[in-house]
Amino acid sequence: MYKAIIKGMGMYVPEKVLTNHDLEKMVETNDEWITTRTGIKERRIAAPNESTSDLATRAARQAMEKAGVKPEDIDMVIVATITPDYIFPATAALVQNALGLPHAGTVDIEAACSGFIYALSMANAYVVSGMYKNILVIGAETLSRITDWTDRTTCILFGDGAGAAVVSRTEATDTSGFIGFSLGGDGSYADLLWVPAGGSKNPASHETVDNRLHYMKMNGNATFKVAVRTMAEALESILKEHHIDPGEVKLIVPHQANLRIISAIAERLGIGEERVMVNLQKYGNTSSATIPMALYEAIEEGRVKKGDLVAMVAFGGGFTWGAGLLRL
Ligand code: UT7
Repeated sequence: MYKAIIKGMGMYVPEKVLTNHDLEKMVETNDEWITTRTGIKERRIAAPNESTSDLATRAARQAMEKAGVKPEDIDMVIVATITPDYIFPATAALVQNALGLPHAGTVDIEAACSGFIYALSMANAYVVSGMYKNILVIGAETLSRITDWTDRTTCILFGDGAGAAVVSRTEATDTSGFIGFSLGGDGSYADLLWVPAGGSKNPASHETVDNRLHYMKMNGNATFKVAVRTMAEALESILKEHHIDPGEVKLIVPHQANLRIISAIAERLGIGEERVMVNLQKYGNTSSATIPMALYEAIEEGRVKKGDLVAMVAFGGGFTWGAGLLRL
């Protein structure tokens, strides 16, 4: 048996910054409301010629450099995204081509904001089984392309960005590596957070475009409540399953949707602010990219180092949720 570790990480955000004050000129909102209700101050917006695969490729290239792996070493590319370049082919295939990976399989997975945790769990399973040695796992989004910039209840929340990790084989005796994952989903909540048109149920038509059905819709209040409950439960259950006290966790890296959601979870688990990673003030909610971007920054800022126990937890459309435990 083998274990899987994160060997290197990367991230990329587009240059353009959209602040809360900029949004005040676009919809009926204000910096004070956005800051107190969400914690977000600004977000990044992809340039017109940038798509999800471009962001993903930049983050992935940096992760490969940090990991010290060559293109021929990568066995598989998994991209978690809800904003693929096309309905098909997979964004992972475009990334594979851009990076010139000669032997890599390519697949996208769609679990909304929980996508990166799901993708990590799949990479972990491939590596632990002995099937693969090095997997590129990417969370990348250009949410600005599915955001309705006339809807103040959603447009203040989202941003663009990408984070990537090289997940690699190590010996079972290594103390570093993934400890476990806990994943969940409940499709009865599908229409609380979704893009109603553009798929096989409501294919693109003049009518769907006129009715703005290709944009993200969210029932924020209902989503908020389920997010707090399921994320807290996912964390509690994975810690219990592995007999780990919350006090042993050096840093929680939660999905960055809303500071109030993050604070509620930390309070429920009795974990102080200093042990919770927050960077949503800079990037907003970048869906599947929030966790790799937050973990990347936590490592770069020295908030966690080799040997530390990190707990990741996410929640998103579907609904989906998931938690993962990792010793760096
Ligand atoms: O990543 C996937 C998971 N996503 C989430 O977990 C997001 C979950 N939801 C949320 O983060 C919050 O529900 C929001 C930030 C979206 C909204 O916060 P809220 O505290 O739930 O506000 P609300 O929807 O209950 O709205 C309160 C008031 C309403 O006015 P009335 O009805 O009280 O007069 C809204 O119309 O705030 C109004 N409002 C705004 N005001 C200024 C809604 N959006 C805005 C806005 N600016 N942008």
